[in-house]
Amino acid sequence: MESKVEIAIVGGSGLTGTELIKVLLNHRYAELEYITSRTYKGRKVSDIYPGINCSLEFVENIDNHQLKKADVLFLCLSPHDSMKYLKTVIGDYRGMVIDVGSDFRLKDTGDYKIWYGEEHLLSQLLSRFVYGLPEVHREDIKGAKYIANPGCYPTSVLLGLYPLLDSGLADIDSLVIDSKSGVSGAGRKLKEPYLFISLNENFYAYSATGHRHIGEIRLERIVPSITSMPGSFPIFAISSSIR
Ligand SMILES: NC(=O)c1ccc[n+]([C@@H]2O[C@H](COP(=O)([O-])OP(=O)(O)OC[C@H]3O[C@@H](n4cnc5c(N)ncnc54)[C@H](OP(=O)(O)O)[C@@H]3O)[C@@H](O)[C@H]2O)c1
Repeated sequence: MESKVEIAIVGGSGLTGTELIKVLLNHRYAELEYITSRTYKGRKVSDIYPGINCSLEFVENIDNHQLKKADVLFLCLSPHDSMKYLKTVIGDYRGMVIDVGSDFRLKDTGDYKIWYGEEHLLSQLLSRFVYGLPEVHREDIKGAKYIANPGCYPTSVLLGLYPLLDSGLADIDSLVIDSKSGVSGAGRKLKEPYLFISLNENFYAYSATGHRHIGEIRLERIVPSITSMPGSFPIFAISSSIR
């Protein structure tokens, strides 16, 4: 029997963290060891999320000794928090890192500053992160120690854009990307625009002057001009059309 891969998740009580827990519980080679949540420390995952059959307790922190035992560290943190966290542990931690957040997707610190508004704290690591879109970078992902998971909109757009551009069917000078999602992308935040009463039977555009995911799409496919208009409507999915 092959040995299991020991997993640590930082930010395990949010939207991506809980989806990740569900996936890993069904993975035959994954062994969940540590899941952090400052809010729910000491509480079982299944007590907070009864739909997830996991008796592990959330911990506030993973200490260095515990972290060293992990083969894979998943970061499910908001923009800027992944790099801040990784900066504190990278000196001691030698395992694999998969960032579900957005801190290691862009390769250029200038681009990061433009789209995310802060200086990058681990610029020396950017080139070592593989963009984790398996349909395109499968071979690179297989050997990677550091993986940056693609964003939600970029995944939905790039999977259409690659075949369209590779086949020469699209006029790259006049691409319009029209994406819509629910509010899952905002995670667990409690904000008035994300309440049922605000969302139900509603539809609104946002980031009309440029969503930060455009930088990520441009990096993967050099498209001179993208007109993008994200919108939000009450679903748990993303719909993207490319014209
Ligand atoms: N939501 C989506 O559909 C989606 C899709 C693809 C990618 N992403 C990206 O994935 C990342 C996580 O998004 P999310 O939606 O899962 O966020 P979220 O629901 O807000 O969850 C964030 C998690 O991080 C923890 N946390 C927050 N600040 C922390 C800190 N400073 N140190 C340690 N833990 C901290 C929170 O728990 P405690 O506060 O209890 O510790 C929570 O578990 C983001 O970068 C997002 O852009 C999101």
